[in-house]
Amino acid sequence: MQYVMKGGIPLTGEVTIGGAKNAALGLLCAAIMTDDTVIIDNLPDVRDTNMLLEALCEIGAYVRRLNRHSVEICGKTVRTVRADSDNIRKIRASYYLMGALLGKYKKAEIALPGGCNIGSRPIDQHLKGFRALNASADIEFGMAVASSDHLTGGHIYLDVVSVGATINIMLAAALADGSTILENAAKEPHVVDVANMLNSMGANIKGAGTDIIRIKGVPRLHGTEYSVIPDQIEAGTFMLAAAVTQGDVTVKNVIPKHLEAISSKLMEIGCKVIEYDDAVRVICDHRPNHTDVKTLPYPGFPTDMQPQMTVALSIAEGTSIVTESVFESRFRYVNELTRMGATIKVVEGSAAVIKGVNRLTGAEVAAPDLRAGAALVLAGLGAEGYTVVTQIEFIQRGYEGFAEKLAGLGAQISMVEDDKEIMKFKLQVV
Ligand code: EPZ
Repeated sequence: MQYVMKGGIPLTGEVTIGGAKNAALGLLCAAIMTDDTVIIDNLPDVRDTNMLLEALCEIGAYVRRLNRHSVEICGKTVRTVRADSDNIRKIRASYYLMGALLGKYKKAEIALPGGCNIGSRPIDQHLKGFRALNASADIEFGMAVASSDHLTGGHIYLDVVSVGATINIMLAAALADGSTILENAAKEPHVVDVANMLNSMGANIKGAGTDIIRIKGVPRLHGTEYSVIPDQIEAGTFMLAAAVTQGDVTVKNVIPKHLEAISSKLMEIGCKVIEYDDAVRVICDHRPNHTDVKTLPYPGFPTDMQPQMTVALSIAEGTSIVTESVFESRFRYVNELTRMGATIKVVEGSAAVIKGVNRLTGAEVAAPDLRAGAALVLAGLGAEGYTVVTQIEFIQRGYEGFAEKLAGLGAQISMVEDDKEIMKFKLQVV
């Protein structure tokens, strides 16, 4: 599948943001840690969550969709702690099953995760955490294997701030015997969301959202009904869409506090940002100004917004430097962007020097991963002429109805299968 679009129209209007994919992936795994029923609402209907739901079914969990955005899960029927299906291999967050199964059944064997190709993405910190909980944890024959005769609390200092390791250790420690202290923990909103849901299931987790998380293990968890937090990155992507197309977009159903790093960079490049209780409006009535950006763990500027920001800066007045400090190969999309007329030089893989150009021009480009794919769509919407973005399966991993939501803001964009449909699109749009 591909997206075809005609750029040059300022996006205007309101868009409703869905539940956070990266929170949902943790919550779905947490849900099987009790034998009671868990209902999760505001679940985004995206490829990654759907694949994880299938993976939960494959290990025996009961999964029933109540509607497009709500699901009922019961972990009582889980019959194996070994998960190695295609679904497991395709999504990065399947590693959360390690923490969930290790906590509940004291054993887990999970095929090594896939996900977006944005760097080497080791899981050494996850394994280190499990070992501190008195489990053995290793990689054997392509599987991450962990087990313990007596899972106990431990003291862990993470060597790198890792969202995945923080959530995974929290999951296992929630059902360990005794107290765990996790230092240098990730502070992302989805870490807090997983802690909140676990607490609503009877866990005792304090400090999520700060550097130090304290977990008092409990013998068992119970059922809950929980609503996923709004997706900070989906919201940020639409905010950047306003900047790239010089539009006026209100993202609704968001937590403005989670968007502060993005809002402040948008203001720096000359956009007007108005915050409401649960919405943010971004108005951009001129070409963006240049600025420098460095990605950092939360509350810093999110690495998942780096490509979208780079697109905005590619058409800014002046030269900008974007430094990627979280993942090592997150500039693979730059080649595609230069095919649209951007002037960007990547220095040693970790920084992009961007000389703003007056305008981008449409081209056929391929999405190399989820966020870069979304960024290329923004580039196409800001560019003159027609752009085709291929490999949109990546984008569908994390954006629900992306084209539809953009079209709701006035974008001329369509999802198409082949050249014939691209021709048809070109004949239809003016
Ligand atoms: C999560 O990945 C997100 N994925 C990513 O979103 C996001 O980019 C990332 O956090 C950073 O915010 C999910 O939530 C499923 P990390 P994760 O562990 O948990 C190094 C998207 O587009 N590290 O915080 O895998 C690692 O190499 C995706 O939605 C270790 O060295 O990221 C990286 O440099 C892409 N050892 C840094 O830490 C470890 O054991 C941060 O990674 C773990 C991580």
